[in-house]
Amino acid sequence: MHSGTASVLFVCLGNICRSPTAEAVFKQRATAAGLEVYIDSAGTSGWHIGEPPDPRTIEAGQDAGYDFTGQTARKVTRADFGDFDYILAMDEANVEALKTMAPPALIGKIGLFLDYAPGCGVRGVPDPYYGGHDGFSKVLRLIEQASDGFVAALKSR
Ligand code: 4NP
Repeated sequence: MHSGTASVLFVCLGNICRSPTAEAVFKQRATAAGLEVYIDSAGTSGWHIGEPPDPRTIEAGQDAGYDFTGQTARKVTRADFGDFDYILAMDEANVEALKTMAPPALIGKIGLFLDYAPGCGVRGVPDPYYGGHDGFSKVLRLIEQASDGFVAALKSR
């Protein structure tokens, strides 16, 4: 759909903490690398549809220089599996949820974002929603590492 340009959809549960962070961080990294990428994020739940990112997400991200302007939570749709080249989930539970929603032929587009940060020691970005500020800082660090890895992967495509 986004012809000529790679496209990526970042996915978490609520689309107010982890995937909005991935959207903001990867947007900055891709721009800095001169990559043209269509970037969006969505949730496997519809619990926060229409809401801006969580205030704690914005606080942690803005402190590190990221821009969340214009982000609004939405739920993943079946059309997303056709529209995006990469559908990258923040943890394994969201990979499983995505697999139940995807047209079977398009399941191969689903991946774990942290697989682009093989040195980070975990495969899932921990859900920070019910925790303290440290959780949001950890989310940011993991997502920065995976963003760098994903930029490198796209550059060598
Ligand atoms: P996210 O975090 O999936 O990173 O956006 C969550 C946001 C909201 C909830 C859980 C996780 N919730 O239970 O409402």
